[in-house]
Amino acid sequence: MDYEILVNKENILSKDYIPEEMVEIREPMGSKIDNNYTNKLVKEVYANFKIMQKEALKQGYEIFIDSSFRSYEYQERVFNETVKEKEIDHATKYVAPPGGSEHQTGLAFDIIYRRNGKMLEEQDESDLEIQWLFNNSYKYGFILRYPKGKEEITGFNFEPWHYRYVGIELAKKLYDEEKTLEEYHLKKKTR
Ligand code: DAL
Ligand code: ZN
Repeated sequence: MDYEILVNKENILSKDYIPEEMVEIREPMGSKIDNNYTNKLVKEVYANFKIMQKEALKQGYEIFIDSSFRSYEYQERVFNETVKEKEIDHATKYVAPPGGSEHQTGLAFDIIYRRNGKMLEEQDESDLEIQWLFNNSYKYGFILRYPKGKEEITGFNFEPWHYRYVGIELAKKLYDEEKTLEEYHLKKKTR
């Protein structure tokens, strides 16, 4: 499994790409498009998430996974429904085109959190859970994939909820250097 894989609007996965080594995950679900949605992630990713989740809980933050693996077809439906509901401009900034979503790699997920027994539907970057994740997730191999100020580079708007597993070593490097995965791959190419 290539934990450094770059998937974005220019680097598209094939229609039949399904990651190996995925496991079923058990998390209280926030939003779902339909009941056929299976919740899966690559084994190592989920294992590291569970460690991070425990550490977050020690600080009083109840974090869970909302959206995890999505097939090509599922992403296609999410994309088409967003285009129908919102402007195309909004859709392309927030939702990847089919094949262009990291959710298809099984390495990425969206976070939700619970406070006083209630899942929060609206997330704000000033939320303590978001702040904790931003400053600690690299220790478990995760990066905030679409940071603020890097929209031109990643091709997507700031998404404080979307995390991506890249392995502990690379996650620390990107956190320390404040770099995106796109910048890392570009540097690798030009070396
Ligand atoms: N929201 C991210 C960009 C996705 O659709 O994969
Ligand atoms: Zn996401």
